[in-house]
Amino acid sequence: MTAPLLSVRDLHVHFPVRRGFFGQTAGMLKAVDGVDLDIEAGQSLALVGESGSGKSTLGAAILGMQKPTAGQIFFEGSDIAAKDSHGQGARLRDIQIVFQDPVSALNPRMDIGDSIAEPLAIHGVGTGQERRRRVAELLELVGLNPAHADRKPNAFSGGQRQRIVIARAIALQPKLLILDEPVSALDVSIRSQILNLLFELQRRFGLSYLFISHDLSVVRHFADRVAVMYLGRIAEIGATADVFARPAHPYTEALLSAVPLPDPVAQRRRQRILLEGDLPSPAAPPAGCRFSTRCPIAADICRDVSPSLQLLAQGHRAACHLRVPEPGTEARTHSG
Ligand SMILES: Nc1ncnc2c1ncn2[C@@H]1O[C@H](COP(=O)(O)OP(=O)(O)OP(=O)(O)O)[C@@H](O)[C@H]1O
Ligand code: SF4
Ligand SMILES: [Mg+2]
Repeated sequence: MTAPLLSVRDLHVHFPVRRGFFGQTAGMLKAVDGVDLDIEAGQSLALVGESGSGKSTLGAAILGMQKPTAGQIFFEGSDIAAKDSHGQGARLRDIQIVFQDPVSALNPRMDIGDSIAEPLAIHGVGTGQERRRRVAELLELVGLNPAHADRKPNAFSGGQRQRIVIARAIALQPKLLILDEPVSALDVSIRSQILNLLFELQRRFGLSYLFISHDLSVVRHFADRVAVMYLGRIAEIGATADVFARPAHPYTEALLSAVPLPDPVAQRRRQRILLEGDLPSPAAPPAGCRFSTRCPIAADICRDVSPSLQLLAQGHRAACHLRVPEPGTEARTHSG
């Protein structure tokens, strides 16, 4: 078996919480707090969870925009999070990002052709003429007219601007794209067009995606695997079809209960699980299971012991004492 393209191991990203006039450190905000995940070459892993669960911070750490507090990030076998890693250079070309907002991602004063060519110029790829040819090819690939390379971003719609951003992201032929809510800022009517484009590019170039989203209905048809994140940790991870058909973690169940079903009869029968309260602060996470303050089935053990990810079925893991008990904990699960 070949190694995954990306392996994240026990990754932590903590931010100091500063208080007072002199900005003393009053504690640590644990945005990412012990995450393990793998992405195979050519596969897409969706990362879902409420706002503030740490999805973008995890993406930023993989990209190298955010320094991890601890842990390892293996890309093609080398630890790119390690200081002096040989993998650092590769990361600059092989891992690219597409953000949510295509308006702020593009310099309004720059021709879009120059924006797309920028990563090529930075990495010294090709002559000016070769770069112009590559820009035309990229524009065509993302469904835009190559003759429009000399236009400014404001000549394009939101969906077209996201196509331009995607063209720039794939200019260096990366292996992994981090897609941080790539369609959330777009009109609902054009979201599926952009998702189709991403799907097509993946099929054509064997790209891998880390697809960050808080919308599970988008993820269902897009991702091979899905990881559900809660307060800096993975609550559940598995093949998308398995997680949707047999969610194990109560948090996943609650998120899925809000996703409309294609079958109207099943939709009418379904019960929405409403989560009470907001996401607790990652600066003061609950003891034991982080979901225990909102979990509808929490028991005593949940407030004392933090569950670790346990294997449920091939490639499907969840962190829940009651649903996937760890060896030796079953006896302590009764409340009261
Ligand atoms: N640079 C930073 N300094 C301090 N705290 C930060 C920083 N970046 C993120 N955080 C905090 O880390 C936590 C996780 O943030 P993050 O942006 O990763 O969440 P998210 O899951 O991407 O949320 P959203 O769905 O809103 O984009 C939040 O509590 C956020 O306030
Ligand atoms: S460990 Fe307990 S609190 Fe956490 S999700 Fe499972 S049942 Fe709920
Ligand atoms: Mg985010």
